[in-house]
Amino acid sequence: MSVKQFCTVALALAATLLCVPDTAAAPAKVCRSVEPIRGVNLGGLFVLEPWITPSLFEQWATSPNSTVVDEWNYCAVLGKQECQARLNRHWGSFVQEADISILASQHINTLRIPVGYWALAPDHSEPYVQGQIPYLKQILDWASKYGMRTILDLHGAPGSQNGFDNSGLRGDINWTKRPGDIQRALDSLAVLARIANDHPSVVGVQALNEPANWGIPKTTIIQFYIQAYNVIKSIAPQVAVVFHDAFLPDSEWSDIVPRNLTDTILDTHIYHVFVDDVLKLSDNEHISKACDDGKMIGKFNTRTRTICGEFSLATNDCARWLNGFQHGARWDATYLNTKPYVPGATCQGQEDMRNWDAKKREYMKRFAMAQFQAYEMGTGWIFWNFKTENADAWNYIKLAQNGIIPNPPNGGSFGICPR
Ligand SMILES: *[C@@H]1O[C@H](CO)[C@@H](O)[C@H](O)[C@H]1NC(C)=O
Ligand SMILES: *[C@@H]1O[C@H](CO)[C@@H](O)[C@H](O)[C@H]1NC(C)=O
Ligand SMILES: *[C@@H]1O[C@H](CO)[C@@H](O)[C@H](O)[C@H]1NC(C)=O
Repeated sequence: MSVKQFCTVALALAATLLCVPDTAAAPAKVCRSVEPIRGVNLGGLFVLEPWITPSLFEQWATSPNSTVVDEWNYCAVLGKQECQARLNRHWGSFVQEADISILASQHINTLRIPVGYWALAPDHSEPYVQGQIPYLKQILDWASKYGMRTILDLHGAPGSQNGFDNSGLRGDINWTKRPGDIQRALDSLAVLARIANDHPSVVGVQALNEPANWGIPKTTIIQFYIQAYNVIKSIAPQVAVVFHDAFLPDSEWSDIVPRNLTDTILDTHIYHVFVDDVLKLSDNEHISKACDDGKMIGKFNTRTRTICGEFSLATNDCARWLNGFQHGARWDATYLNTKPYVPGATCQGQEDMRNWDAKKREYMKRFAMAQFQAYEMGTGWIFWNFKTENADAWNYIKLAQNGIIPNPPNGGSFGICPR
C-alpha cells in the first residue's frame, strides 16, 4: 500500500489508527501530514438554532415578546404533534445525500454531528420530540459511502451546559444542578457510543459541547469528562474521545485532558466575533490572530491531538439572530454595546455575499486559507457550518462554490502564516 492509501484506510477505519505506526506501512507522523481533519459541522439539524434556519422561526419574528427562542420552546409552543411534524420535515430536508456528495467533492473528509440529549435519553415530560436517530444513521451511511469520517457530538445536556440556544434551552446554566443530570448525559453518550460501534464512519464521540466554566466548576467538568471517557471507551473502544476546552485558556488545557487517558482529542472553538477585543481587529490583525492560534494549537498537539472544532469566516456578528433570536449585533451597537467599535459600522447587507465587493472576497479567501493553515498546525479543523439559510460567512458549501473557500482546502499548502 502507498502511504496515501494506508492513511486513507487508516483514517477511515478509526482514529486510533491515526497515531499507531504500522511497521508495514507509513509512520503515523507522515499519515497525519497527508490527511488532517478537514471537516464541517452539521449544525442546526438536530439542535435548532434560529440564525441557521430562520425560516423555522420567522412566524414569531414580529412578536416582540415571543418565547420561541430555542428548540425547547419551539416544541413547547407548537405542541408535540405539530413540532414533530415540522421537525420530521426539517430532518428529512436540511441534510440530504446531495449535500454530503457536494462536501465530498469539496474535499471535506469529516462531519461533526451535534445531537441533543433529548434525542438519546429522553424524558417525555419535557417538550422535546424524538425520532432523530434514523436520520442520524442515514447520514452515517452516506458518510461511509463518500469516504468521510464522522464525530458524534453531545451538544445539549439536561438543564443546559452553557445557556446558549444551541444547547436546546437558552438562559440559565442548570446542568449538574439537579440529581440525575450527569447520569442522563452519560446515558446519552452510551447511546452515541453504541451507534458509533455499529457505524464504521464514526471515529470520535465528543463528551460535551462547550460546557461553560463560568457556570459549572472546572472540577465538575473534569470529573464528568473522566466518567464520559469510561462510558464511551467501554462501549466503543475504537473511537477517540473528544473534549471541548470549556473555554479555558491553553494554559489549562492539560487539566482538561488528563494525561493518563489515551486516544483523546482536545477541541477548541475559535470565533472572531463574540468578544469585543477580537471583533475590533483590523483585517490583517484577524489573520495574525489566526496564525498565532495555530501556533498555540500546534504546541498542545505535540501532547494531545488538538483540533479547532468550530470556526467561521465571520469578522462581524451581523448574521441575523446570531446572538440569539431577536437579538441585534455588537457590530452596529444593537446588542450589549451602545457605540459601534468601528465608527459608522453597519450590518446592512453584510450577510449576503452578493454584496461583498472584490476586495472583501479576496480578504475572506485569505482569512479562510490562514485559518486552514493555522489549525492544520494541529490535527485539523471543522468549519461551522456546512450551510446556513442566509448567513453566508458561515456557509461552507456556498463559500466553496463561489471560490471564496479554495478547493481543495489544504491548509498545509497555503503560505499565509509565517513558517
Ligand atoms: C413585551 O414586554 C415588555 C417588557 O416586559 C412590555 O413592556 C410589553 O408591553 C410587552 N409587549 C407585548 C406585545 O406583550
Ligand atoms: C434553572 O434553575 C433555577 C433554580 O432551580 C430555576 O429557577 C430556573 O427556572 C431554571 N432555569 C430553566 C431555564 O429551567
Ligand atoms: C486518570 O487520572 C484521573 C485523575 O487525574 C483518575 O481520576 C482516573 O481514574 C484515571 N483514569 C485512568 C483510566 O487511569
